[in-house]
Amino acid sequence: MSANNWDSSLYDDRHSFVWRAGAGLIELLNPEPGERILDLGCGTGHLTAQIAQSGASVLGLDSSTSMIAQARQNFPGLKFALSDARDFRFDEPFDAVFSNAVLHWVHDAGSAVRCVAAALRPGGRFVLEMGVKGNVRRLRTAIEDVLTEAGHQPKCPWFYPSAAEYATILEEHGFEVRMAQTFDRWSKLEHPERGLREWLEMFAGPYFEGIAREDHERMLRMIEERVRPELNRDGVWWVDYRRLRVEAVKLA
Ligand SMILES: C[S@@+](CC[C@H](N)C(=O)[O-])C[C@H]1O[C@@H](n2cnc3c(N)ncnc32)[C@H](O)[C@@H]1O
Repeated sequence: MSANNWDSSLYDDRHSFVWRAGAGLIELLNPEPGERILDLGCGTGHLTAQIAQSGASVLGLDSSTSMIAQARQNFPGLKFALSDARDFRFDEPFDAVFSNAVLHWVHDAGSAVRCVAAALRPGGRFVLEMGVKGNVRRLRTAIEDVLTEAGHQPKCPWFYPSAAEYATILEEHGFEVRMAQTFDRWSKLEHPERGLREWLEMFAGPYFEGIAREDHERMLRMIEERVRPELNRDGVWWVDYRRLRVEAVKLA
């Protein structure tokens, strides 16, 4: 997804389950009053605001102008910065970096982790959640099969490493991994009929870039029919999320 392709209204209207599910990650972060915390890939700012309620001083960072504009509108009292996770720096160190549902968009994980390490004080925490290997496997298989059968070469926009792969990247950049956990989290989509289509529009757009609108429409219908037996239960759409949660500490 390019930096400005995020539809912040569709995110807040129909995909709030992403940040609602990420609220448990704030418990793992355990923010303390007065701490300096960076919310990396803050989106529309809902988790940034929840972290701020602890009394910590939080900065939300995101590379999407649309998401940052929406975050500023949602939470005018909070600070947000437009910047890229792969290339940012701040003069004053943070006590913790928090990131929910962002790092599977960042293929160049080494650059992002290097920036996070540079932004933290020694002993600072990096608490993250992202899609893990096997995330949305059923949906991804259907998307890629439909594209391939139509003569396209699907290019996956997501980076879903295993826990061991991400832990290795963290260790290479001076972190000790204190906790790494993978788990299934099937997520219910909000709209009974259009739910899957809205999810594909919100998150799978890069697969269909350059494809004519009518072909795109036809493929969306085919994808829906292929995954319906597994992802539609009693008329409700679900997505087969698998997540990775990590708590790492920057070594002194
Ligand atoms: C699914 S949203 C999650 C937003 C927020 N963390 C939440 O839980 O609601 C993913 C966010 O990652 C941001 N993002 C993707 N790639 C990024 C990058 N390279 N640098 C900074 N933000 C990025 C997107 O702009 C988007 O706001």
